[in-house]
Amino acid sequence: MKHKVILDTDPGIDDTMAIAYAIAHPQIELLALTTIFGNVSVEESTDNALRLMDFFEHDADVAKGETRPLVMAPNPHSYSVHGSNGLGEIELPPSNRKPVGLSGADYLIEKTRELPGEIDICAVGPLTNLARALERDPTIVDRVKSVIIMGGSIYRPGNISPVAEANIWNDPHAADAVFAADWPVVLAPLDVTTPVVLTASFFEDLRVENPKVGTLLADIAKFYTRFYRSHSGYNGCIPHDVMALTYLTAPGVYMQKRGSLAVATEGPAIGQTIFQPAGKRAADPMWAARPKHIALLEIDADYFIGDYFTTIAGRHPEYDK
Ligand code: BDR
Ligand code: CA
Repeated sequence: MKHKVILDTDPGIDDTMAIAYAIAHPQIELLALTTIFGNVSVEESTDNALRLMDFFEHDADVAKGETRPLVMAPNPHSYSVHGSNGLGEIELPPSNRKPVGLSGADYLIEKTRELPGEIDICAVGPLTNLARALERDPTIVDRVKSVIIMGGSIYRPGNISPVAEANIWNDPHAADAVFAADWPVVLAPLDVTTPVVLTASFFEDLRVENPKVGTLLADIAKFYTRFYRSHSGYNGCIPHDVMALTYLTAPGVYMQKRGSLAVATEGPAIGQTIFQPAGKRAADPMWAARPKHIALLEIDADYFIGDYFTTIAGRHPEYDK
């Protein structure tokens, strides 16, 4: 049976790479995109989501999410990373599609009522929609199959501050509420995303294999790669958001550990994700009280790159089945 996925997303260049993977993968049924601010405003991410559904000729619902963080003032959007339109300056035609009449949070609540125990929520932006859904209907925790999150950094530095990763930093209060809830969370932090660098020649090969999708990905990756080159000295770009989906399709590529998660919500460490491995002694009783989740800590990068390529190229082994 296919994984029924709702992608909570702020497209976003690597978000688009994840959307392409979700649509192409034979084991995933992409039901909906719930949008969020982050890389761009929620108006822009929603517009991009609708345009992308046209481009991919895919009929997932699009539900517009929260406009701002739960508590703090919004951080600036990441136009320098994702381009002024969030898609690396590549213009897709405007869409005639409309978002559904529910907010992102309400969509999560309603869809998990309709399909209890069947939905994997993959959240690859700030976690405000998920936190609002928890606030409005705490019983949602019993209806989701899993909540897989791209965010945070456990044993590596951050990418937006010395200790914070961007998705968590953009709404630390929401992330902390999501980690404090007793639902099956899997975290794909920078520890497993930064070892994977996709080069320009990877995308050029993909363009040849799948001229339509490969060309979009190769074109949007150019802007993203320029950022990574000048900012981090990488010879390519990092497809962070895809890693949340690969946990569903290829869980064996990860080394994982059980433990509790919390987020610093003030001071110079604001947005830092803190992991306490299960069974390790901690003096503060708050750690024992927190639910146990899963953190992905290492990845088989070569396997991941091969899996992404064959999936987008339409040569995933399961296509033959
Ligand atoms: C995350 O932040 C955003 O820039 C990306 O889309 C990804 O979700 C990486 O830190
Ligand atoms: Ca994202």
